[in-house]
Amino acid sequence: MIRLPSNPDPKADEGGPAEKRVFIKSYGCQMNAYDATRMADVLAPEGYAETADIAEADLVILNTCNIREKAAEKVYSELGRIRELRDAKAAEGIAMRVAVAGCVAQAEGAEIIRREPLVDLVVGPQAYHRLPELLRRPVTRKGIVDTEFPAEDKFDHLPLASRLKTRARGFSAFLTVQEGCDKFCTFCVVPYTRGAEVSRPVAKIIREAEELAAAGVREVMLLGQNVNAYHGLGEDGEAWTLARLMRRIAQVPGLARIRYATSHPRDMGDDLIALHGELPEAMPYLHLPVQAGSDRVLKAMNRKHTADEYRAIIAKVRAARPDIAVTSDFIVGFPGESDADFEATMALVREIGFAAAYSFKYSERPGTPAAERKDQVPETVKTARLAALQALILEQQTAFNAGTIGKVVDVLFEKPGRNPGQIGGKSPYLQAVHVEGPASLIGHIVPVKITGIASNSLAGMLVRPDIRSSESKRFNSIVA
Ligand code: SAH
Ligand code: SF4
Ligand code: F3S
Repeated sequence: MIRLPSNPDPKADEGGPAEKRVFIKSYGCQMNAYDATRMADVLAPEGYAETADIAEADLVILNTCNIREKAAEKVYSELGRIRELRDAKAAEGIAMRVAVAGCVAQAEGAEIIRREPLVDLVVGPQAYHRLPELLRRPVTRKGIVDTEFPAEDKFDHLPLASRLKTRARGFSAFLTVQEGCDKFCTFCVVPYTRGAEVSRPVAKIIREAEELAAAGVREVMLLGQNVNAYHGLGEDGEAWTLARLMRRIAQVPGLARIRYATSHPRDMGDDLIALHGELPEAMPYLHLPVQAGSDRVLKAMNRKHTADEYRAIIAKVRAARPDIAVTSDFIVGFPGESDADFEATMALVREIGFAAAYSFKYSERPGTPAAERKDQVPETVKTARLAALQALILEQQTAFNAGTIGKVVDVLFEKPGRNPGQIGGKSPYLQAVHVEGPASLIGHIVPVKITGIASNSLAGMLVRPDIRSSESKRFNSIVA
């Protein structure tokens, strides 16, 4: 008789029982959310399973964002709460390790451990593939810091396919194609925290897209800090543009929708604009941050384009794809911004008409040129400008959503709705849509007639409840 070992090694098989639990909390942009999934990928073969309950974690990772002061400071208040939890667990003899990852880790490095000695490990966004090795090092009072930009490709170290088989990722997924930034806008920390612009080679992106599709993903969001500056090595040895990459990704069986973020106006090439009118898989949605409407401010921000150049790009994009949803980012109260400058921003917004937009008060970031300026705008002025801009944007967003009432749009259903018998998904314009419908439609792209606006989402009804995904590749835009 063959005797099975009574205590099998969980590491021998990824699908086996996990020994340890990791809790990952992400702040910041979509790339940080993507990084969190990849950190979980590298930790899975080490016997770490993800948990949503911080109290049962053996390892806590705070995946931080440094873009504005508020985001960066959140880390320290969170660490304070974690200290209490860790001490309580230590009293019961249970160890808990704490790591700080992401852009604050990159910007502040060892300073984080000096300020909060609770932290065992600081790991930058370019070094997280080294997490297993870093965690194996002996625990020291000084902690471990890795904020290198290693020569090796971190994406090569990330096991993915095997894990995707055991873990559903949902029906839309992020996929980083470009990282870093060489633009050095005078307010921004990203070029310092994410480093120089690097594009991943096409073949590796396609392999990841194929794996995602095989795991049931229907929609990919291609990510990069300057995603439309993509210039990765193509399958033919040439540098490919984002448009070319998107045409290739559209051929991956099962993928029906492609989005990308974030774009810079300077890199909005004609081939990418044309693609919006030609490729059904390219969703009619463009997030194109402009930051401000005054040329004087744009120049001081080092954005390297004028407000009129931005208007011209939007006009071209709309000529290629008239129904496209255009969204943007704004900063109010940049140093030296006058009332007239702010009015120019409001005028630009009125003229363009956005489907949605994010707006922020300028936040001084240490080490950036704008933080050195003496003509900082008072907080009260920033608050008033932000309120005025947000009111205008909300008006436009409501108008855009109201404009889809009565139309038929394709919805990718992703999850059960808020109420029983409901399902929820996303329109091509990235609007949340809820309908009465069977759970069997989850994962499918189905035409829906929009009937009204509910809070934070649109209400709709199924047009043809019999439609399945086999037909869904053809439906990507408004039908009626
Ligand atoms: N790469 C993108 C933006 C990345 S950061 C681009 O070029 O537009 C996301 C947004 O945060 C920016 O668009 C900007 O609106 C905002 N932001 C960046 N730095 C900021 C700062 N110091 N204060 C306030 N908002 C900031
Ligand atoms: Fe920051 Fe400007 Fe680079 Fe965007 S383009 S990441 S705002 S420096
Ligand atoms: Fe924040 Fe870093 Fe993203 S600073 S916005 S997490 S690139």
